[in-house]
Amino acid sequence: MRGVLLSGGTGSRLRPITHTGPKQLVPVANKPVIEYAIEDLKAAGVTEIGVVLGHKGREEIQELLGDGSKYGVDITYIVQGNPLGLAHAVGCAREFVDDSDFVVYLGDNMLRHGVSDLIESFQSDEYGAGIALQEVSNPEAFGVADVDDQGTVKRLVEKPDDPPSNLALIGMYVFSPAVFDVIEDLEPSWRGELEITDAIQSLLENGYEIDSHVVTGWWKDTGKPEDILEANRLVLEDAERSLRGTVEDGAEIRGKVQLAKSATIESGAVVRGPVSIADDVTIEDGSYVGPYTSIGENTRIAGPHIENTVIVGESEVTTNGRIIDSLIGRAAQVESAEGMLPEGRRMVVGENSQLHL
Ligand code: TTP
Repeated sequence: MRGVLLSGGTGSRLRPITHTGPKQLVPVANKPVIEYAIEDLKAAGVTEIGVVLGHKGREEIQELLGDGSKYGVDITYIVQGNPLGLAHAVGCAREFVDDSDFVVYLGDNMLRHGVSDLIESFQSDEYGAGIALQEVSNPEAFGVADVDDQGTVKRLVEKPDDPPSNLALIGMYVFSPAVFDVIEDLEPSWRGELEITDAIQSLLENGYEIDSHVVTGWWKDTGKPEDILEANRLVLEDAERSLRGTVEDGAEIRGKVQLAKSATIESGAVVRGPVSIADDVTIEDGSYVGPYTSIGENTRIAGPHIENTVIVGESEVTTNGRIIDSLIGRAAQVESAEGMLPEGRRMVVGENSQLHL
């Protein structure tokens, strides 16, 4: 089984962060989202991976992943260019897949328990495709599957007024190569994209059986800032305490804190986990770093009260104000006037921005 990892797209819901880089590289608990996908594929025994690239951030993605050897996988790059839809992106992988079954992983999605069960379920019989489903409370907002007792899909409906079930399609699929002919015959949807649900529906209409697998652990599409924060919370929740860096006398550390080797928590600073702190980060006297915060490499934190926030890295936060529920892009500077009142601030700050509160 090969893997196709979709890493193109526009990322419009994550602006301004995606003005300067691809969303698949935004860090969750100090690790780029796309690395979780590679690890899940590897854990499922999928070591030949085609990474589909769009226009934006091609070089950065290739620079990070390389030939895949550092993850124990073999990566081939496939250029999609314009984001003409998920089915179009999958269609670009035809040559790479070369007549084998393959699993499709959306490069900005995260799944707590990975894709092994989805693949196993697909392989248990002769299916044209396998889809991953999750129970949701608002199926009207999703593509919804109508399935029989064996989990075989009867039909798919996109954002139905009257949902046949509460099982929503999430962004993980397994396909037989039959999907490529179907994709060639697809017409763009109302939004101008070749839709993956149309491809699956068309397989159904052409007599293929479609398997489904209901995912039990959490699933997160990290397409929006609040999703990044939630994914960060979910990952940090499972993290272990590990203090490899320097903790000065008089610093206070509580709970599950991950402190990288060359990070420092200075005397007078308070860190309350779950928190992840990367290399070359300094948390200075008077700062409070609270639960569900990740601070990326080479960042200086001087004075703020931070909670539930992701700081991508290379930044300076020199304010005594409160920063909560925020996503702060690479190389941003957040400062404030002397004596600013410590009111809470939620912000999404783009790369290389300067913010004077
Ligand atoms: P989406 O989040 O559905 O699309 P998008 O990146 O265009 O986001 P937005 O709506 O915020 O503008 O894409 C899911 C994943 O699939 C993501 O990793 C990007 C990738 N993708 C492609 O590789 N090619 C495509 O043509 C599209 C639409 C998405």
